[in-house]
Amino acid sequence: MAFIDPKLVPKRKLANGQEIPCIGMGTFGSDHFSPEQVSRAVAGAIRCGYRLFDCASVYGNEDLIGEVFEQAMKEGVVKREELFVTSKVWNDMHGEGDVLLSCAKTLKDLRLSYLDFYFVHWPFPNYHAPGCDGDSRNPDSKLFSVEEFMTVWRQMERLHDMGLVRNLGMSNMTIPKLEAVLPLCRIQPTVLEIELHPCFQQPELYDYAVAHGILPIGYCPIGSPNRPERDTTPEDIADTQVPEVMEIAKAHGVHPAVVCIKWAVQRGQVPIPFSIHNYAANLECTVKDPLTDAEMAILKGVDKNCRLIKGQVFLWPGATSWHDLWDEDGVIVKGGNKTC
Ligand SMILES: NC(=O)c1ccc[n+]([C@@H]2O[C@H](COP(=O)([O-])OP(=O)(O)OC[C@H]3O[C@@H](n4cnc5c(N)ncnc54)[C@H](OP(=O)(O)O)[C@@H]3O)[C@@H](O)[C@H]2O)c1
Repeated sequence: MAFIDPKLVPKRKLANGQEIPCIGMGTFGSDHFSPEQVSRAVAGAIRCGYRLFDCASVYGNEDLIGEVFEQAMKEGVVKREELFVTSKVWNDMHGEGDVLLSCAKTLKDLRLSYLDFYFVHWPFPNYHAPGCDGDSRNPDSKLFSVEEFMTVWRQMERLHDMGLVRNLGMSNMTIPKLEAVLPLCRIQPTVLEIELHPCFQQPELYDYAVAHGILPIGYCPIGSPNRPERDTTPEDIADTQVPEVMEIAKAHGVHPAVVCIKWAVQRGQVPIPFSIHNYAANLECTVKDPLTDAEMAILKGVDKNCRLIKGQVFLWPGATSWHDLWDEDGVIVKGGNKTC
């Protein structure tokens, strides 16, 4: 298997001066891949040179990934300080004391004494049963509340104070929600995990994060071709089938997925592609044959504002469509204000 020297992989600097790899690997099996399959890919990816892994309690595989980390360290493949491990508190663990419990469970499962990044996975306590379909709704779901979010964040800050978490992160936020909570945070997030791919570039949110010293981490960087059924609608555009992406891929002799990764890295976000079969190519593409400025300009033009992870299963009673989750009019949606 190809080995890419992690020292050669470009780095990104966080607001606190820490340097992290410009690419990581996702670990969500999208309801298609078993924890065993995902953890085997993680084992291969570490040996291939990956050093950043995007985990989450809800992915249901942290215990097996923990075994893989432990084994790799035991074999001397990697030292703890060379690894960057993220995890996230799931929506059903937002109550007082729950965030601490959830982090403790994650640390135990991952067999680590600290996390490099801990994210609030979604900014509200709404959750769905694993494997549910797109129409399923939880009647207990609630609107976003600054007060409830800060209950979660205060616990995140305590984890940071205790040294259990080195960086705090938010995920699936919007500019209005960030505007509301950032001034209240004693410890600022250094990272923001959001959906980012050529057909969904979120330029305003991206620029907002960068202007606030927050590094964007891009999820679904390839447009998540294997995403769960509940996150698929007929209007969705496949990034890897966009003619411009395909043409640039042909010019470089690579799969269109690789063009998506190169674009993400050269733009400046940290993509976290999931892969069982192609992770080596995704890491390798960060160290050779960059896209030209002209190709980057073409790719900037393919943005279609095509959100794939719409989050409709998190809607609260009274909400009318998934658009309500994303504050598209520049204010935090209260109730429901748009139709599909
Ligand atoms: N914070 C959040 O709310 C959130 C939400 C969604 C996702 N995430 C994170 O983001 C990660 C990535 O998102 P994702 O898994 O949904 O989608 P993705 O990374 O955009 O797409 C993954 C798919 O692309 C294929 N692929 C990867 N590299 C390829 C290549 N070089 N050539 C051809 N196909 C390739 C993979 O197939 P093979 O396996 O065959 O290579 C896999 O089916 C997740 O695993 C998770 O860690 C976070």
